Amino acid sequence: MSTDAVHPRVLGYLGRALSLELTAVQQYMTQASLVGLWGDEASAERFREETVEEMQHAERIVQHMLQLGVAPAASQLQPVTHAPDLLGLLEHNADLEQQLVDHYTEAARFCAVINDESNGAFFQALLEDEQHHSRDLEAWLQQLGGRRRRGYALYGANSAARRDPRSRATF
Ligand SMILES: [Fe+2]
Ligand SMILES: [Fe+2]
Repeated sequence: MSTDAVHPRVLGYLGRALSLELTAVQQYMTQASLVGLWGDEASAERFREETVEEMQHAERIVQHMLQLGVAPAASQLQPVTHAPDLLGLLEHNADLEQQLVDHYTEAARFCAVINDESNGAFFQALLEDEQHHSRDLEAWLQQLGGRRRRGYALYGANSAARRDPRSRATF
């Protein structure tokens, strides 16, 4: 398929998808190192696995863009979000995964509107992966005491680890 057969908005969705996936790579890679510094090797390993999954998504997008004859050009990576503990990191990740879900939902919907089945299926497959990530993340958050709705104070009961100096390594 040549570029001129692809709707410009679809190319825009692909570019933003690449930016979001690379943002996730940067975020989860950083978190793997950060929680490693906190001594939480189990979570570090989990973040490393997520980093690889997001990298594979980025690769799929790059391959897809090349097949369409488009040069990948991600821009505006979001800075890594900061939190003082694992729960806070995961909540930022839930927000990022939600951005991905919203983005792929909108992209797939637009492809349906313009009858672009091929690109629609591409976005739909990524949407299902991100929905899966979101569910896993929600389960992990619940294991840690549920998703915080308002501020850190609600989780005061879980704050003992936060007073551990090793848990303060941050950026
Ligand atoms: Fe992803
Ligand atoms: Fe994801």
